[in-house]
Amino acid sequence: MAKSIDVSDLNIYYGDFLAVEGVNMTITARSVTALIGPSGCGKSTFLRTLNRMHEVIPGARVEGKVLVDGQSLYDSAVDPVEVRRMVGMVFQRPNPFPTMSIYENVLAGLRLNNKKLSKSDADAVVEKALRGANLWNEVKDRLTKPGMGLSGGQQQRLCIARAIAVEPQILLMDEPCSALDPISTSAIEDLIHELKEQYTIVIVTHNMQQAARVSEDTAFFNLAGAGKPGRLVEMNPTKKIFSVPDEEATEAYISGRFG
Ligand SMILES: Nc1ncnc2c1ncn2[C@@H]1O[C@H](COP(=O)(O)OP(=O)(O)OP(=O)(O)O)[C@@H](O)[C@H]1O
Ligand SMILES: [Mg+2]
Repeated sequence: MAKSIDVSDLNIYYGDFLAVEGVNMTITARSVTALIGPSGCGKSTFLRTLNRMHEVIPGARVEGKVLVDGQSLYDSAVDPVEVRRMVGMVFQRPNPFPTMSIYENVLAGLRLNNKKLSKSDADAVVEKALRGANLWNEVKDRLTKPGMGLSGGQQQRLCIARAIAVEPQILLMDEPCSALDPISTSAIEDLIHELKEQYTIVIVTHNMQQAARVSEDTAFFNLAGAGKPGRLVEMNPTKKIFSVPDEEATEAYISGRFG
């Protein structure tokens, strides 16, 4: 079931470079949290620390705490592979596995987890995930065709199907609509609305209207200058952020005066 996330005093490094400093944040279960802020402020970096994808980069490390339903993600007893199963991720660019069919792409995450599935169980998982990603009707007659043969928007929904097929409890989405047309964007936003019934969703977006449309809470990150670490400036209910934010910097960013 959906889980909450509590981040405290999180510092995120690439080698000696402190990329993000001092983040304290609580992310509510079964809701959508949007991360906004100018390029380079550390949104993607922060997002990757929520499923331990940050540490796969050589030299990359974190200080501080990330708790998921009270359990520390970075505890030495915790298996990062299990974390990534529980906390799914959709990347900015659709990245279906190029040699795999649509069908096998949906199952790829489960296969990585060494799940043995009967053919009928696999069929059921594929259909459920593709329906969940609002793609089933468009692909049900060509499941054995390559995933790369789909349009960009369809590939992005295929990657969402792959992420939800493993039934994660939290779904991280890094600018999932940045390469999509308005119709695909709208389909993905509808999907986010449906998914938040079951999942805790964290979405990075540069699109202010999108943040306003899809999220309950919004976190604004900023950085003081090149080479300086990104910081969480303000996190508040999205309605407040877009009407009466607490910080002047937030107001300036959302009204387009900088960033
Ligand atoms: N693999 C890496 N190695 C070293 N530094 C990195 C790496 N990835 C990101 N950085 C640095 O960390 C900082 C934050 O980058 P990040 O990609 O998290 O920003 P972002 O807010 O997602 O930006 P954008 O909106 O452009 O996607 C930047 O200074 C960036 O150059
Ligand atoms: Mg980014």
